[in-house]
Amino acid sequence: MRLHVVDHPLVAHKLTTLRDQRTDSATFRRLADELVTLLAYEATRDVRTEQVDIHTPVSQTTGVKLSHPRPLVVPILRAGLGMLDGMVRLLPTAEVGFLGMIRNEETLQASTYATRMPEDLSGRQVYVLDPMLATGGTLVASIQELIKRGADDVTAVVLLAAPEGVELMERELAGTPVTVVTASVDERLNEHGYIVPGLGDAGDRMYGSA
Ligand code: URA
Repeated sequence: MRLHVVDHPLVAHKLTTLRDQRTDSATFRRLADELVTLLAYEATRDVRTEQVDIHTPVSQTTGVKLSHPRPLVVPILRAGLGMLDGMVRLLPTAEVGFLGMIRNEETLQASTYATRMPEDLSGRQVYVLDPMLATGGTLVASIQELIKRGADDVTAVVLLAAPEGVELMERELAGTPVTVVTASVDERLNEHGYIVPGLGDAGDRMYGSA
């Protein structure tokens, strides 16, 4: 697994305002959307392209276009939905799938409760969206589901990560073609599973249901 923490003043600025508890839901959604677009720019650095010939008004030249099969963008419900627009803004031709994950409170195992995506992901580049990489259980289970379907290149775009979640991913997804792109790896998880200093409950802050 590769970890890429995006170091950029605009990313740091937007993240600081997202963290601030005074930021209201409408501003939070707008900033999260902008931050995802900045992360998406880095996350798509290795998106597959093919060479094409075109004519400019002046001459003929060669350039690149995104190649087929199209990349697949998969937000994890519910909070990942708030990241979808920011991602597809840069990848408008991507296909979008959905993954609903639920955690069994007794076993603490994450499992899938809803999927809407192609059965066969062989040869596909997949971008998974989930704002918070906390314990890592949900993201690991999601990525295992994508790999089971044949995905051979998975990039997780997360706003914030905890070291505990990064460690779980490194352990569980060792040797798999997975990259995590994030704005920050914070200090730790607290006893309630929140990232510290974090930004609170991302879904509640996005949808105003705190
Ligand atoms: N999920 C959240 O929304 N926030 C956290 O801090 C951890 C998990």
